[in-house]
Amino acid sequence: ILIAAATILQAYLLGSVDTGILVSKFVYHDDVRNHGSGAAGMTNMLRTFGKKAAAMTATGDVLKGVLAVCIGRWLFHMLPADAGVSPYLGVYLAAIFAVLGHLYPLYFGFKGGKGVLVAAGAILAIQPVLLPFLAIIFLVCLIPTGMVSLGSVAMAALYPVLTIIYGSLQGYAAGDMLVCAIGSGFMSGMVIYMHRANIQRIREGKEYRFGKHNKK
Ligand code: G3P
Repeated sequence: ILIAAATILQAYLLGSVDTGILVSKFVYHDDVRNHGSGAAGMTNMLRTFGKKAAAMTATGDVLKGVLAVCIGRWLFHMLPADAGVSPYLGVYLAAIFAVLGHLYPLYFGFKGGKGVLVAAGAILAIQPVLLPFLAIIFLVCLIPTGMVSLGSVAMAALYPVLTIIYGSLQGYAAGDMLVCAIGSGFMSGMVIYMHRANIQRIREGKEYRFGKHNKK
């Protein structure tokens, strides 16, 4: 229980370091949450401050996802091998709480981003083999429409499916499979929930589009 608590705490505290907010405050002397979609993520940084801001945000957010999961894995390694705990428990606990910290950051009034890149960082540390598939899903949605949110929602929706397919191909034990399915399902659910306003705008044909798709 102590190890699980430490994993959750470190992930939440790391996740709360919202790079978008920090970069916008310290580099641009503004708060990205007062602009565009109001989200403290790479997409809104790109929309508000441009490519350099987006790159810094993406780097920080991905790294904290990687770091939180690596620390979670390391903490759970301290458990004796015969403890009967799935090795995936630590990584998914870390991933989920890092995303939660990013969405509801302790240091920034509990208003952060939508969790896509932190989740991507976590996936990079959990099952990196899934990332190229997720990237293809993302691009297939983004390129014809210009809508980052559509790509994000599609990736989130298919992530648990890919996790389960991968687990079956690898012959995961039932317990590991259950942890992976619940863990990826939770991450997916959080990201989709954070995109509820985007989904509404997509349905109404009012979502912001990048590039040549942007008619404004
Ligand atoms: O990762 C967030 C993206 O999917 C949507 O961002 O700012 O357009 O709501 P935004």
